[in-house]
Amino acid sequence: MAKETDQMQKIVSLCKRRGFVFQSSEIYGGLRSAYDYGPLGVELKRNIMNAWWRDMVQSREDVVGLDASIIMHPRVWEASGHLAGFSDPLVDCRVCKERFRADHATPATEGQDLVLTFADKARAKAAQELIKTQFGVELEAHGKELKGAKAGNRGYVCPVCNSPFLSEERQFNLMFRSSIGPVDAMTEVAQAIERGELAGLQGNALRAKLDELTKDSAVYLRPETAQAMFVQFMNIQQSMSMKVPFGIAQQGKSFRNEITVEHFIFRSCEFEQMEMEFFCEPGTDDEWMDYWKDFRLNWWKKFTNHPENFRLRAHDQAELAHYAKACYDVEYLYPWGWGELEGIANRTDYDLQKHAKYSGQKLEYFDPTAQKKYTPYVIEPSAGATRGLLVMLIDAYNEETLENGETRVVLKLHPALAPIKVAVLPLVKKDGMPEKAREVVNAFLAHGINARYDEQQTIGRRYRRHDEIGTPWCLTIDGQTLQDGTITIRDRDTMEQQRISIDTAVQEIESRLRKI
Ligand code: GAP
Repeated sequence: MAKETDQMQKIVSLCKRRGFVFQSSEIYGGLRSAYDYGPLGVELKRNIMNAWWRDMVQSREDVVGLDASIIMHPRVWEASGHLAGFSDPLVDCRVCKERFRADHATPATEGQDLVLTFADKARAKAAQELIKTQFGVELEAHGKELKGAKAGNRGYVCPVCNSPFLSEERQFNLMFRSSIGPVDAMTEVAQAIERGELAGLQGNALRAKLDELTKDSAVYLRPETAQAMFVQFMNIQQSMSMKVPFGIAQQGKSFRNEITVEHFIFRSCEFEQMEMEFFCEPGTDDEWMDYWKDFRLNWWKKFTNHPENFRLRAHDQAELAHYAKACYDVEYLYPWGWGELEGIANRTDYDLQKHAKYSGQKLEYFDPTAQKKYTPYVIEPSAGATRGLLVMLIDAYNEETLENGETRVVLKLHPALAPIKVAVLPLVKKDGMPEKAREVVNAFLAHGINARYDEQQTIGRRYRRHDEIGTPWCLTIDGQTLQDGTITIRDRDTMEQQRISIDTAVQEIESRLRKI
């Protein structure tokens, strides 16, 4: 564990030293769990997101894109379930994972015999195992029911499965709330105090009153990009004449008031997601799930040096959200152990049905061939772009001992993701070498290849600096260049050098980038 922590500390330190990731507002002491992506970090993040967009949208006919507002109509979050209990205590069922308002739970008196009920026998079996291992309680399974549990002193049990295994009550919502319009929430509250409307109110009654006062101006920062793709389903399907099966993809910022923030940028309050909702005919969803889970796992693997550190893990029945039919996580072996990088969920028709109900609009698809209407099922691959960036850094980080005993730190980033593709280095700052090097840099920039001129310090130190930020190739201009028009090209990973003609340098790098 000490070694793993050590590795993370080295990566965090490299991120700051080399301009990948900084603590937000650092000069003011930083803001917990908010990060800024520096000059190299923003390039790496864009390269990851652009690769995703190219492979998920631009190179497919069956997926189209969307760039929706971060702030949406508050009813969206009521329908999606994110808003439930904003001002009421929330409780999580530790068995079926339902999150519910304590005042909407099923009443139960202490010591009451309970029958825990699940959708099917398999889920009941998985719940039985979970209850035994996590709570040390053995229940008897009878088909899809579990018997033998007794209610605690909460006065209620889970409204979905009747379990008494519940989290503490929390006055808490993951969404960041703000207000829109001329009168902000603070002003509304101040005016209500002046009118004496809050006098004598306490606890839940006070919270309910505050909610009521501010609900017309309340808006929320989206906690996932997904909901806009359900809400815009009809507009996109009709305007683009999309035929099911098809997908809608979106990338962008999401915000969650995470209580536990951990492992640098792994879990932060503001992060970026890359999500796609793939709408398909009910009955074909299992096949599409198989397709997308493999597609997504292989997508991550293609950028990595260690494919063995990626795996798919199926959620067991007890772990599934109540609306999900199946879910797989693409997991990565982080320095602290296996953890989620992306989730691929079969969300059934849950979201479209919910939005149809709350908006009063039909969210259905008419199949012109079969002449029938239905609500499509959805397979959702949902990845974190910022979490993906962390994975790429961990995967690429290497410390190597050289023949002369020195250690070099090298980021073996996939060249397509590397922030800088080529460094052009004049051996010395004289004899026309800097001018020649500038010409080479300009030739690369004119071809849209991110190249950088670097003349600071010895050539050895410059190689080390570019190894550390993952620049795949260094081109060196030396005395011979001026005589015969050749330059050396040094490979980051093998450190091998070869001489090529200066005139073919751009073509050479272009062809190496094409091959990967
Ligand atoms: N629409 C489904 C959804 O949002 P999720 O599992 O909550 O599912 C999907 O999030 C992905 O977003 C995760 O696999 C993770 O990569 C990323 N993610 C979620 N919360 C995050 C956070 N607080 N910080 C960084 N990344 C996060």
